[in-house]
Amino acid sequence: VLENTNIMDILHYNFYNNFLAVKAVQCIEENDVITLLLTKEDITNHEIPYSDLIKRLADKDKKMCDAGNTCSIVFDSASGLKKIIITGLGDAEKLTPNDLRKAAGETTRTIMKARGEKTLVFSPVAVSNNDHMYLRALLEGLILGSYEFNECKSEVANKFDGLVQVYSKDIKVNDIIAEANILCESIIWARNLVNRPGNIVQPQNMADEALLMSEKLGLECEILGTDAMREKAMGALLAVGKGSDAEPKLITLKYQGSVNSDWIALVGKGITFDSGGISIKPEAGMGEMKDDMAGAAAVLGAIRAIAEMKLPCNVIAIAACAENMPSGTATRPGDIIKAANGKTIEVVSTDAEGRMVLADAVWYACRQGASKVIDIATLTGAVIIALGNETAAIVSNNDNLCEEIISAGKTAGENYWRLPSLPECKEAIKSDIADLLNSAGRPGGVITGGLFIGEFVDENIPWAHIDIGGTSTAQKTNGYLVKGATGIGVATLVQLVKGK
Ligand code: BES
Ligand code: ZN
Ligand code: MN
Repeated sequence: VLENTNIMDILHYNFYNNFLAVKAVQCIEENDVITLLLTKEDITNHEIPYSDLIKRLADKDKKMCDAGNTCSIVFDSASGLKKIIITGLGDAEKLTPNDLRKAAGETTRTIMKARGEKTLVFSPVAVSNNDHMYLRALLEGLILGSYEFNECKSEVANKFDGLVQVYSKDIKVNDIIAEANILCESIIWARNLVNRPGNIVQPQNMADEALLMSEKLGLECEILGTDAMREKAMGALLAVGKGSDAEPKLITLKYQGSVNSDWIALVGKGITFDSGGISIKPEAGMGEMKDDMAGAAAVLGAIRAIAEMKLPCNVIAIAACAENMPSGTATRPGDIIKAANGKTIEVVSTDAEGRMVLADAVWYACRQGASKVIDIATLTGAVIIALGNETAAIVSNNDNLCEEIISAGKTAGENYWRLPSLPECKEAIKSDIADLLNSAGRPGGVITGGLFIGEFVDENIPWAHIDIGGTSTAQKTNGYLVKGATGIGVATLVQLVKGK
């Protein structure tokens, strides 16, 4: 059994072993594995290593460079080369950076299986394209696709520890690699946090992680427990946490990278386990609710990357952490509680707890002087029915902010879709005996959930809610996503504050 006290050791021991270290090189000598990611047009490209051989093979196998195709050639040569791995990318003009990111994610696992001591990755599209988006996507795919969550295994068999190098002539390559490494480390940091079960990650552990990060990166860090929340009358957050023996924590990190810019607040749902509370969930799949802090992991992962990249912006990350448990001290369905902004909430379902913790957290973000608020949460199962497992939903009061998130997501490789929020939808969350209902039932569940949170954001503040209920974990390994936590949100939020 893993004790909570072991968590730091687990983290430090395993973190840097989980993924590939990527470096740049400008020569192709002395590798035992060479990996080529080739478009169909590359078949006649003479700058590729072993271009004559490639051409001859492609003449025999017409599908060699089709998208999704992989083949390996085994060598027994005096030069030490043991294997060439070829990944097809299809037509060059159709290839987007995100296609390359996915292909690189697949290829990385082939690389790890080949077990070369020194592996060279060569992708002409990333060597020659000068907007860097392809190089960036290649690096991110290689690193993210190599992720494994193995820190709870007592022994990890066959860990890959070879050197992987990417061929590049770009003079900026080292900067691009440094940035890709920071971003991917932060995504993997978030994935680890989400993949850890509820007995290992409790609100206190989230707070410990945040504190450790703030010390390393020089961030301002504040952690509020029950007493401080009572002082601030955060009745909604307290109501969710009070069924559990674990104390809820409201974590605030601040990064100031610019003297006179506005502050943007990133607010994450951090339910370390969601049993449903007294409105208890059915047995099937309840264990998946250990991922119900993926929003909090995303905002903490994002501020980690933003601070490490030293981006010229001001960011507040707030993680609203609690465990949602049934007990003699738990909130009951029917209870009426008062949130920090003074609004009263009739608790229809104790399983609609995410919007309750976020109610007080977005209010707190406004008190911290945020001029823009984005909240991110595994808020509903309804978002899976609406949009599936590839797209996150947005509910917002601001067209520009939505556009910014959607466009940042396109660059980052994450999909978003805005849902309408008509004034009529707000009627559904009105209570007869209190100000608001915490659930309006199944119709438009993503929208009413989002609008509920919007009721606690100060008027006139641009706000967007992102529902990652369907995208926080992947059902199977595919491309740069590995079965389990995806780390969704980190890349988009970093890209958003970067702004280009
Ligand atoms: N954390 C869940 C949402 C969830 C469920 C995400 C399954 C991913 C998969 C959330 O707290 C919840 O229980 N939501 C309820 C809301 C309802 C009671 C209004 C839901 O979606 O059923
Ligand atoms: Zn939940
Ligand atoms: Mn719930």
